[in-house]
Amino acid sequence: MNDSERAKRRAAEEALRYLPESGVLGLGTGSTSRHFIDCVGELVKQGRDFRGVPTSEQSRAQAEALGIPLLAPEGPWKIDVYVDGADEVSADLCLIKGGGAAHTREKIVNHASRHRVIIVDESKISVRLGERWPVPVEVIEFGHLSTAQALSGLGRPVLRMKGELPLRTDTGNVIYDLHTGPIADPFGLERELSLIPGVVESGLFCGRADAVIVAGSGSVRVLGVGYGEVGLAAK
Ligand code: 5RP
Repeated sequence: MNDSERAKRRAAEEALRYLPESGVLGLGTGSTSRHFIDCVGELVKQGRDFRGVPTSEQSRAQAEALGIPLLAPEGPWKIDVYVDGADEVSADLCLIKGGGAAHTREKIVNHASRHRVIIVDESKISVRLGERWPVPVEVIEFGHLSTAQALSGLGRPVLRMKGELPLRTDTGNVIYDLHTGPIADPFGLERELSLIPGVVESGLFCGRADAVIVAGSGSVRVLGVGYGEVGLAAK
């Protein structure tokens, strides 16, 4: 494991302190969430009664292979804790997500969760969102070039490709990565994007994290609003 993977693993292990004794867990997507799902698989093997709601087909396959019982994809769910990674995190706990093209399902699961814990390594922290990452925007295929024109009022949209073809999300839509530069008002931009017809969901997650666990080389810190240092009882 290299240093970056070790930090992701450390963040994932730290998130276990935020889990109830048993209950429903939202399972994120990406390389950091992958470590978390591995840890949950271990706990299930040891007899803990967790059920999961995965946010992508990739996470579903991993959880199934580890024997984690899963709830039906239709919902409705009452999720105790959602744990997921992020591409960029600002000091006010706004996030850019969707590097793995799963942000629509992630936002649905995030919204259905009582507590939201984000796990990242230090490389994900920014002063202003948009400094290093574009904002992924999931768009339905019908009229996507017109939707892209509308998006160009807010930044420079670039259609995400997989080889020669546009990348498809698990739901069959396309992704535009919207290059904005540093974002002055992430809450406002999230709202503006949601008003464009054809936009399914953006990767801006504002006011959607209770705690962000940040792992560096050898250290772990927690950024949080209204969430005690450890455990659900503190909220
Ligand atoms: C997937 C996501 C991921 O959480 C995000 O891309 C971070 O991934 P990683 O942990 O691999 O850095 O939003 O849609």
